[in-house]
Amino acid sequence: MITRRRAIKTLGIGSLGAYLAKGTFTFAAERAILNGGNPLSIPELAQGELSEGTRKFQLNLQQGSREFFPNISTPTFGINGNYLGPTLRFQRNELVSLQVNNQLGEPSTLHWHGFHVPAQEDGGPHQVIANGDSWTAQFSVRQFASTFWYHSHMLHSSGEQVYKGLAGMIIVEEDDLQLELPSTYGVDDIPLIVQDRRFSNDGSFQYLSAYQDSVIGMHGDTILVNGTAQAYLEVSTTLVRFRLLNASNARTYTFAFSDGRDFKQIASDGGFLEKPVTLNKLELAPAERGEIVVDFSDGQQLQLVSLGRVTNFPEFPGAMSEMMRSLNAQEFDILDIRPQEKLQNSAELPEHLTSIYRLPEAAASNTRQFKLSMGSGMRSGDDRGPGTGSRNGNGGGYGGGNFSINGRRMDTNFINERIQFNTTEIWELSNNSPMMHPFHVHNGQFQLLDRDGQPPSENELGWKDTVRVGSGEKVRIIMRFTDFTDNESAYMYHCHILEHEDNGMMGQFLVIRE
Ligand code: C2O
Ligand code: CU
Ligand code: CU
Repeated sequence: MITRRRAIKTLGIGSLGAYLAKGTFTFAAERAILNGGNPLSIPELAQGELSEGTRKFQLNLQQGSREFFPNISTPTFGINGNYLGPTLRFQRNELVSLQVNNQLGEPSTLHWHGFHVPAQEDGGPHQVIANGDSWTAQFSVRQFASTFWYHSHMLHSSGEQVYKGLAGMIIVEEDDLQLELPSTYGVDDIPLIVQDRRFSNDGSFQYLSAYQDSVIGMHGDTILVNGTAQAYLEVSTTLVRFRLLNASNARTYTFAFSDGRDFKQIASDGGFLEKPVTLNKLELAPAERGEIVVDFSDGQQLQLVSLGRVTNFPEFPGAMSEMMRSLNAQEFDILDIRPQEKLQNSAELPEHLTSIYRLPEAAASNTRQFKLSMGSGMRSGDDRGPGTGSRNGNGGGYGGGNFSINGRRMDTNFINERIQFNTTEIWELSNNSPMMHPFHVHNGQFQLLDRDGQPPSENELGWKDTVRVGSGEKVRIIMRFTDFTDNESAYMYHCHILEHEDNGMMGQFLVIRE
């Protein structure tokens, strides 16, 4: 059966849009009609090898190619395969060791996103693996059961390497939880790694081929789920758990179902929510995760979609506002879901999932400000510069690509913040640019205190490692800096729009003991 697919519309942004119009948008759209879809591929589940009390993994970064469309091969990067990597499964509190072998033909890194690990094991821009070399990370898994991921964090080329395929999912489990949840991997517990890509006529990925790609970040016109274009999934149980991972470089999705049905969110980035939260849409920015459980007992075929968003960002000069408006308005299909005729009955969802200790504001001994800017425009009075990096203040409209945090761009030789070991801090994130930036902090999980003074919504009350900071918004987060201290090796904080990160919207902090 051929289902009607809505593909992503070409951005209508006047002269800038001409770049895109020249591209190959119809490529994807035509395929959609011809195909009737491809079965969703499920990344292999890698459980590693247990030896000497350690769970050991081998991860090979390699070049490859894949046919996302019949008879058209796309050169790719992959981990133990030709695109993306296996889903790694860890148990909370166990020791894992990950040997990363780089056969890419270029330097790279592999970062364990969301994990609380020593800075040296983090796989950030300082743990570069030269081509032909290996690097082994070892750490104990301190995270709660949830969905995490790993990806390239190569300075200035994370965007391109992830775009080509250097990413994968990590599932942390807690054996003693005893929660009755759909948990058979690939059957009723489904990883959904959602990415948008743009292809050239020869089938190769198009990366940074238009001016706006480096301003608003790389947005594609073709959705891949676990590396499958035009994906469909047959479900066989009444309840299905989806592990949504936005592994896109820059696109934010508003996940929903085509018939508007409700679903329950059970986990955020770093763990279960206290109880399932009923939603009919869920917004996830790049790097954010959400586990949801959906009821298919009515047997209806439907689509997982992304809805258009209404965002009230202020008017900024130049093409930026227009770009943002058209981006937000897009609505498209992500996954076609086809329930089997006879569905197996799932156990009812538990009412209580976990208890979350809310970090009290009073525990914080320090508050820091982080101002996210994307440059040009008039210099703002509270710009912290001068620094070693570029600053605001070159005149002209917004969108000049001078991405900065506190007026500075990432400089590997400059430590932006020094944090006292074993303290709790409040970070105030503000954004004076015309677009949302997903702010990510390494070294573990934080909690949201408020957005513009308002308490976070129910599904943002859990553990997070990436938070959306909307245009003009102020978001306060609270975080503990425990367990690991290193006076030399830094952790990163950055915008997770990878083109912003690659272009300087990143900083470094040390957790020090004086
Ligand atoms: Cu998902 Cu600094 O990374
Ligand atoms: Cu990270
Ligand atoms: Cu950004």
